[in-house]
Amino acid sequence: MKAIVIEGGERLVGEVRVSGAKNAALPALAATLLVNDICRFTNVPHLRDVETFRALLENLGARLQWRGKGEMEVDTSNIKGVTAPYELVKTMRASILILGPLLARMGEAVVSLPGGCAIGARPVDLHLKGLEQLGAQIVLEHGYIKAKAPKLKGAQIYLDIPTVTGTENLMMAAVMAKGTTVIENAACEPEVEELAQILVKMGADIEGAGTKILTIRGVEKLRPVVYSIMPDRIEAGTLMVAVGITRGNVLIKGCRLEHLEAVVGKLREAGLEISPLEEKGVRVVGDHGIRSADIKTLPYPGFPTDMQAQFMALMTLANGISVISETIFENRFMHVSELSRMGADIRVQGSTAIVNGVARLSGAPVMATDLRASASLVLAGLAAEGRTVVSRAYHLERGYEDLEGKLASLGAKVRKVDLDEGADKLG
Ligand code: UD1
Repeated sequence: MKAIVIEGGERLVGEVRVSGAKNAALPALAATLLVNDICRFTNVPHLRDVETFRALLENLGARLQWRGKGEMEVDTSNIKGVTAPYELVKTMRASILILGPLLARMGEAVVSLPGGCAIGARPVDLHLKGLEQLGAQIVLEHGYIKAKAPKLKGAQIYLDIPTVTGTENLMMAAVMAKGTTVIENAACEPEVEELAQILVKMGADIEGAGTKILTIRGVEKLRPVVYSIMPDRIEAGTLMVAVGITRGNVLIKGCRLEHLEAVVGKLREAGLEISPLEEKGVRVVGDHGIRSADIKTLPYPGFPTDMQAQFMALMTLANGISVISETIFENRFMHVSELSRMGADIRVQGSTAIVNGVARLSGAPVMATDLRASASLVLAGLAAEGRTVVSRAYHLERGYEDLEGKLASLGAKVRKVDLDEGADKLG
């Protein structure tokens, strides 16, 4: 089992580039099912989740090839399968993204139910309800979603919750449906907007991308695209916290601040200097001490739940009390007990965590429980005294492209080791 080993206390200094966004790359790959040709994407991050998605598509008959760094070619001219098996879906919930486009293309899709997940129940009921409104017949059998629809028909869909992948799934199902679909209370996340842009480039007719109301007029056929995936706003935010927690000074290149307004606002409140330098990137300086700030996670443009754990790591060292409310997922405080093992003072009451800043953290062996929790433990480790060993590093590999390499290039003492090869490797 891989682990990340950090000797804390180094100040981060230098330049770093943000990779392509995981949550934009996965729906982009799913959208290729809607064309019968070769699509090409650049700035695709090399991640475990991208590899899982590649396996899912290859299992259906697609051919995916890396063509140099960050460039991926997807040939969907030979799709024959309709099944996303349990073995793949269980490792990544976002596998559900193939349901809508596969149904649109093949008239049939069989996708394993994602099931429970470490950060909450996370049902897919809204995906299924929306697809039924588009005319699909859906049964749940032996742990699988079995959907059929010889031809999907446009519909008026209201989402009870602005689900991100749900909006994406329904948008992909609707682009070639007969007639017009309106999705109300749609998710407005930049990744949803980017998927709409990709679909429009493929020839779809979508209005309202990035707003709460999407109007999709069905078209006959889509064509292949060449598209560059946007930078990962969550990776950018994570790097900003890394600079803040180590009192560093770093130029972060390739990040789009317009996608990070809530995060940047809160990090400035916490004492970070964040200055856009036009083409060059964003200068982040964290040498003024960390001030406490409250956050509440909300759908975009609110503070992203995917940055909550990292922000909490920063607040453990703030000069005061901060109140962190998680409103998106019901069980997303699993990093709390691990941060406490490093000396953090945090109390959880329901969906709220009260963080009482401490003067110092001390390195400890800790366990990653999910993707963003693992990032928060790495961040805490950067600031802690002594050695932190974050086990189950595969969580980090799911969504961060070489985070330890990037942090090391900025001066952090961090490396990945294989714990199975013996504890002496840590020496
Ligand atoms: C996506 C992101 C994930 C992020 C999350 C919230 C991807 C691949 N993943 O996940 O990184 O943390 O958005 O910003 O883009 N819900 C239902 N029924 C449904 C669907 C969702 O009740 O059918 C609930 C969920 O349990 C959760 C809330 O809606 O409480 C938001 O979830 P959702 O936006 O669907 O998250 P994902 O799309 O899974």
